[in-house]
Amino acid sequence: MGYNVAVVGATGAVGEELFRVIEEYKIPVKKMVPLASARSVGKEIEFAGKIYDVKELTCDVFEEEDIEIAFFSAGGSVSAKFAECAAKAGAVVIDNTSYFRMKEDVPLVVPEVNPEDIALWKKTGIIANPNCSTIQMVLALKPLHDEFGIKRVDVATYQATSGAGKKGMEELMEQNRAVFNFKLEEEVKNRKAFAHQIALNVIPHIDSFMDNGYTKEEMKMVNETNKIMHSNIAVSATCVRVPVLRSHSEDVCIHCEKEVDVDRAREVLDAFEDVEVMDDIKHNVYPMPIISTDTDITYVGRIRKDLFDDKILHLWVVADQVRVGAATNAVRIAKKWIEMEGDK
Ligand code: A2P
Repeated sequence: MGYNVAVVGATGAVGEELFRVIEEYKIPVKKMVPLASARSVGKEIEFAGKIYDVKELTCDVFEEEDIEIAFFSAGGSVSAKFAECAAKAGAVVIDNTSYFRMKEDVPLVVPEVNPEDIALWKKTGIIANPNCSTIQMVLALKPLHDEFGIKRVDVATYQATSGAGKKGMEELMEQNRAVFNFKLEEEVKNRKAFAHQIALNVIPHIDSFMDNGYTKEEMKMVNETNKIMHSNIAVSATCVRVPVLRSHSEDVCIHCEKEVDVDRAREVLDAFEDVEVMDDIKHNVYPMPIISTDTDITYVGRIRKDLFDDKILHLWVVADQVRVGAATNAVRIAKKWIEMEGDK
């Protein structure tokens, strides 16, 4: 009993987390096949107390291994080349990259928000996992949209280095070390993940710039939010990289159709699946990356009404980018897919 599962990008930051979350969420696994580039052949990974050899990703491996569920987390170009191989071999592909997200026939799913869209997977065999900043934002927006009707959202993100994968986290750690050895200037010359020094700095630039002056990361938040929520909300985002290892934070300003009520906002947020209100300013309690890291909860705090407009609500949303923003959302999709479409 169980499924033959492949993890593409098995040696990456999200790939490694996927093994832990698949086990924690008790996805029934008959066979686990970790896949990465030829560079990683010979490496081993541990899953559910057993050691597995990493295999090279090829188009044929999905058919050869009779894969039924394939998680992809190795970057857009890898998904572009290999996801359809997996789908053709009969697997459901759960893709963590941006490659398929806005394609019309591919569902883009946050299971707490639009689980019904999973049923559309049959069209292409692929289900897309949204951008990490978008996932945690829509988890907070959905209950508020149902209650107050959201017209516009202005968001500024404070995104951790984990969003750039292992090399992003390593770059921050190496630069932090160099600060204390008085070698920062030299170390910054070795940078690969970020356009500028990340230690002791913030960088208002994630992904590449577009002709409209926004970055691709910012446009993902605009377009993906409305695809997931089937809405027409005006979204304006500024995405910023900060020297944090894991967990993204967001300052979200929400313009509603109706007058907002802060107590009711707290109630509906707290009642929403996988969201927790953490908001006790008298005791300096609010969400922070050190609280959300290694959890599956999207934390919301600093909930307050605008000083000048009764229809505007402000909040602070924090979640673990590697889990909520990637691995956990992907595994939650798999779990729902098994409930809805699975045969075992
Ligand atoms: P590898 O370690 O063999 O390069 P991260 O997001 O942490 O940077 O991880 C990226 C993941 O994607 C790694 O597991 C990496 O494997 C994998 N990957 C990158 N390029 C390819 C490729 N061309 N084919 C297969 N896997 C790839």
